Amino acid sequence: MGGRESSHVNASHPSNQTPLPIVDSFQRLHSNLRISVTDRCNIRCQYCMPELVKFLPQRDLLSFEQIERLVTVLAPLGVDKIRLTGGEPLVRSQFPVLVEMLKSVPGITEVAMTTNAVLLADHAERLKQAGLDRLNISLDTIDPALFKAVTRRDVLPKVFAGIEAAQQAGFERIKINAVPLPLVSDDAIVDLAKFCLEQRLELRFIEFMPLDGSQAWQAQDVRSGDHLRRLINDRVGEITPVVAGDASQPAADFQYVDSAFNSLRIGFIDSVTQPFCSSCNRMRITAEGKFRNCLFSDAEWDLKEALRHGSDHEIEAIVREAIAAKKRGHGSDDFSFVRPTKAMYQIGG
Ligand code: 5AD
Ligand code: SF4
Repeated sequence: MGGRESSHVNASHPSNQTPLPIVDSFQRLHSNLRISVTDRCNIRCQYCMPELVKFLPQRDLLSFEQIERLVTVLAPLGVDKIRLTGGEPLVRSQFPVLVEMLKSVPGITEVAMTTNAVLLADHAERLKQAGLDRLNISLDTIDPALFKAVTRRDVLPKVFAGIEAAQQAGFERIKINAVPLPLVSDDAIVDLAKFCLEQRLELRFIEFMPLDGSQAWQAQDVRSGDHLRRLINDRVGEITPVVAGDASQPAADFQYVDSAFNSLRIGFIDSVTQPFCSSCNRMRITAEGKFRNCLFSDAEWDLKEALRHGSDHEIEAIVREAIAAKKRGHGSDDFSFVRPTKAMYQIGG
């Protein structure tokens, strides 16, 4: 851990000077870091990975200390929100320890995670104790046969148990992320929305993006947010838009008009039909320590060496260089829809 002890002394920030925030050439301020802790997963969602998948060797993953170091270097530059993703974060043993480590970094106001909930029943309480602030659960359908078709695994009861355990542990405003693939029928979408209402879960639809890793994505496979909003309105309950409090939030939030449910949000991330890049504040690091300025850009900056042996100044310089190179949207300057070479599981959701 060569540089860790020296990480408190940062030559580029004399204490009487406020460090410059991380801003790109479109004046977007980057305060949100998404960290993939592993590319491994215990299920195989079609939209995220191909059926046959080769994972990184364990030794290539960033250590918890390296992740903590990155967050410690970036927090004084204005990074305050961390989302831990994968792969499935909970396949990494001791994951709650990482949550604890990041929660104690000064300046970090929120540590969240995205999980498939398959292992959540065993970890929910420990995650709450560790200080995890928010939980997003990927769940596309509550129909067992469809779940198996989408995820190529037959583990829906475990997901239900995970959701229940999270609620019992005291997590509030749990979000369900649903990617409606063509094989998930409108009826199944309606059932999922009703389930979320009953369970008081905040449903969020994400348009299917070309990150499936098998090059199978086609524009006609995308169930648009417009279609989904109509479907919910017609068959679940009337919804109205909620004024966005946070412009960098990718989801268009709606609420149910029915007073029994109007405290519940339902969101739509129209990432394909209405890209939200103009307010993007996100940076990503992959499980093997490659820094990315955009989900859709193949450009990567290697941070692992700097996290292992470099100075804080070097880490910061790499991040600033990567963000300075960020394009206007979807990895290009004209929003032409580039199809990334890597799949979602390799980048981090
Ligand atoms: N398109 C849209 N969303 C995706 N996710 C994974 N792959 C894709 C894709 N190709 C979603 C999962 C997960 C979130 C982090 O990203 O639903 O919840
Ligand atoms: Fe695993 Fe999440 Fe990818 Fe599904 S979307 S395969 S749960 S990492």
